[in-house]
Amino acid sequence: MAAFPPPSRLVVLVSGSGTNLQALLDAGANVVAVGADREGIVGLERAERAGLPTFVAKLKDFGSREEWDAGLAEAVASFEPDLIVSAGFMKIVGKEFLARFGGRFVNTHPALLPSFPGAHGVRDALAYGAKVTGCTVHFVDDGVDTGPIIAQSAVEVRPGDTEEALHERIKEVERRLLVDVVGRLSRDGYRIEGRKVLLP
Ligand code: GAR
Repeated sequence: MAAFPPPSRLVVLVSGSGTNLQALLDAGANVVAVGADREGIVGLERAERAGLPTFVAKLKDFGSREEWDAGLAEAVASFEPDLIVSAGFMKIVGKEFLARFGGRFVNTHPALLPSFPGAHGVRDALAYGAKVTGCTVHFVDDGVDTGPIIAQSAVEVRPGDTEEALHERIKEVERRLLVDVVGRLSRDGYRIEGRKVLLP
């Protein structure tokens, strides 16, 4: 199992069930806070059960998308993270967030990028008729799921798969990959050279 020694402080952002967050917590990651773009989600309950501080930045509570982005960045910054992990966070961050956290903002996506970016990676792979899909852990840049790739795992599409069944199988692989990647980044450090992520 991966070890997450201090001082790698992680802030995790969620929008849903938070099973990737739970996998990080179960692996002993040094998660210092959990943020969300909405209330009433299981991801926040998991954080509260773990005794972690939480914060919510809802788009509709801000005057503009830019103000929301700056507010989210400020909330994240207050926990002084080394790495920020988007674990099912279903919002695209903006300029201010990336100016502060570019190069240390990691996202996990349920498809083999650059195929099937966006909010419906599993549905789109299935509809396309792909025989193999999977998950990608990558750094976030100013595109939609276009940043430098850290690691990927493949998952076979089965005949008769539904979006839900396929997504569940992807998530099993995805949680292990995310725990492994975040552990390595925290423990061993990394360099980003252009599109290449170099792990020691
Ligand atoms: C994960 O499969 C993640 O890749 C996906 O949401 C799921 C969250 O699951 N994210 C996206 O689709 C982002 N475009 P979880 O809330 O149980 O961790």
